[in-house]
Amino acid sequence: MSVDNASQPIKPLRIAVLVSGSGSNLQVLINAMQAGALPIEIVGVISNREDAYALTRAKDANIPVAVLSHVAKGKRMGIKTFETHANEQLIAWQPDLIVLAGFMRVLSGSFIDNVPAPMINLHPSLLPVYKGLDTHKRVIQAGERCHGCSIHKVTAELDAGQVLTQAVLNVDINDTVESLQSRVQKLEHQLLPWTILLLAKNVLPLEANNTSSQIQTYLPKLPLQLLIDG
Ligand code: GRF
Repeated sequence: MSVDNASQPIKPLRIAVLVSGSGSNLQVLINAMQAGALPIEIVGVISNREDAYALTRAKDANIPVAVLSHVAKGKRMGIKTFETHANEQLIAWQPDLIVLAGFMRVLSGSFIDNVPAPMINLHPSLLPVYKGLDTHKRVIQAGERCHGCSIHKVTAELDAGQVLTQAVLNVDINDTVESLQSRVQKLEHQLLPWTILLLAKNVLPLEANNTSSQIQTYLPKLPLQLLIDG
């Protein structure tokens, strides 16, 4: 592939999205897909919570959903059972890319290694700093000047896969956990569609040895950073 090919019309990237909550990031992708702004087809949404508002968003857009609730009939569904069903569902949908967008269960290494498509995660910190939970609180406690969000490849080690893109903001002296969460989420809503566009156009690498490494020889090293001081 040459750089010129990046502007050619391309086959839509088939995307499966895993969610646990509100699904505002999913909504951004749905809107962009429906507007024809992104060359994607959202082929299905999996939620581990039956009360996730993300499911309503998907159903309203006529996107197939699978609810693999972590609590069913009063019993907790173990992660292995969840992963078996999730893998079957993903195989049936045949995605090119799996997006974890606010998905809050920790997945096992064997699931991650065997899913039928590359998987990326949206994380609310500037990785590699602040892996895990409560990132906004920890950023404020540490008196950080900068914060943001990252999109990284999912590997067996939590929040440790290659970081593809990041969006950065300046932490304000008056910021609270709530204000930072809201400001970072606005960044996520921009970073996710930009990143998926670059993946769909094969500018960012989905696989380790794909042709886009040719392009990267001539581009800055990853992660690609977007500075939005909103
Ligand atoms: C995002 O802020 C993401 O950083 C975190 O979970 C949130 C999901 O938001 N991991 P939504 O469900 O997309 O609204």
